Amino acid sequence: MDKILIVDDDLNILRVLQMRLEAEGYATTSISDVQKAIEVTREEEFDLALVDLKLARKDGIELMGILHDIRPEMPVIILTAFGTIESTVNAMQKGAYSYITKPFDHRQLLLQIKNGIERTSLSKEVKRLKNIVGERYEFKNIICKSGKMKEVLEQVAMAAETDSNVCIHGESGTGKELIVKALHLASMRKDGPFLAINCAAIPENLLESELFGFKKGAFTGAMSSKKGLFAQANGGSMLLDEITETPLPMQAKLLRVLQEREFYPLGSESSVKADVRIIAASNKDLAKEVEKGLFRSDLFYRLHVIPIHLPPLRERKEDIPLLVNHFLKRFCAEMKKDIKEFTPSAMHGLLSRDWPGNVRELENTVEYAVAMTTQDTIGEDMILQTPKNREEGIKPLKEAKNDFEKKYLSNILSISEGNISKAANLAGKYRADLYDLLKKHDINSTDFKKQS
Ligand SMILES: Nc1ncnc2c1ncn2[C@@H]1O[C@H](COP(=O)(O)OP(=O)(O)OP(=O)(O)O)[C@@H](O)[C@H]1O
Ligand SMILES: [Mg+2]
Repeated sequence: MDKILIVDDDLNILRVLQMRLEAEGYATTSISDVQKAIEVTREEEFDLALVDLKLARKDGIELMGILHDIRPEMPVIILTAFGTIESTVNAMQKGAYSYITKPFDHRQLLLQIKNGIERTSLSKEVKRLKNIVGERYEFKNIICKSGKMKEVLEQVAMAAETDSNVCIHGESGTGKELIVKALHLASMRKDGPFLAINCAAIPENLLESELFGFKKGAFTGAMSSKKGLFAQANGGSMLLDEITETPLPMQAKLLRVLQEREFYPLGSESSVKADVRIIAASNKDLAKEVEKGLFRSDLFYRLHVIPIHLPPLRERKEDIPLLVNHFLKRFCAEMKKDIKEFTPSAMHGLLSRDWPGNVRELENTVEYAVAMTTQDTIGEDMILQTPKNREEGIKPLKEAKNDFEKKYLSNILSISEGNISKAANLAGKYRADLYDLLKKHDINSTDFKKQS
């Protein structure tokens, strides 16, 4: 049962709220005294608090600050009287989850409570999973808050408990290697070595000797024996990146290692034990490669014991602001710069892109912006797109026009600081037409208002 703390010095309101919320299945604690509310929050964990804005002995926003010092995760909904817009804005800026105006609209209130509780349980869950994944090693560097990444962390935590082979799939730059390292460090093999090899980067004729090593004299030029990667990774984990690029004959040999847990170095008669956990990564859909006959189905089943899918960044845009600020801090420290933030319109620009290169592309964009900026904030002009090659940057005309329109609208809104009349004037459009255009592109003019 979710627990809600209600703080209001109007006893009637307390009673009404208590009745209504308990009828909906919430457990409530109603308190009219500020000091008591603080004590109770110290002693008990609530899933959400409703706090009146105007309490007799303390300002509700001040009380919220104290409650948040004790329980940073607890969402607070501020109860306000009609017509106190300024203080509600202030409440939101000071960290209120939302506010609701008296007299309450019952459905609105329940909806906000439900959403508030859902959000905390999500962020708590992400935190808990990160703790599991990085129990002994701090895994602060996996930045995320989306539900989709929560699922990924859940799978990583689960996979870390076992010693089964794992197959991780995700577009380029989504963080596969980062996740795999976290998995290794969270697993019982954490004290063993972690090796990553890119199957696409090693020429076909060298792959075997790289993986299995060779004996002196195994081939011309083999002047001395060499340990292969499997032997080096003994007792640890090995990431086989771009596994789909492994040639079919090599796939057969890999399969044998996975089945028999041993291998033969080139030119050697005796086998070597391979105690290695294999984690395969790919940006292609392995199952499809099997269908096409490019990947052995038996190897697929060996590797695919625990599949993990990393969603592309465009499907979890709520992670973007966190990632941007994380990279901003990191590059500022590296380049010894003191840049506070991205301007709202620059952040908006970052949020509106599709990021085909995913987190890596975002990271590069932030690095470039930090390097080029001479001011203490990063504006929109610093986040221009840098397509990897010219052809890749070319879009169909219709799409390009659409993109231009969107950029143009953002530009005029940032010049007019969110003032629609002014922006319409600049564009030579009627206000109503401009509204239509903004709606079409899902642009919110208030995002461009200057923050005070
Ligand atoms: N959630 C995240 N938090 C912080 N940094 C991240 C996150 N995801 C990815 N990165 C960073 O983005 C970059 C790309 O990640 P990584 O190399 O793990 O991707 P990948 O999926 O292995 O890419 P590729 O398919 O090209 O090999 C790295 O610098 C990594 O640290
Ligand atoms: Mg990689």
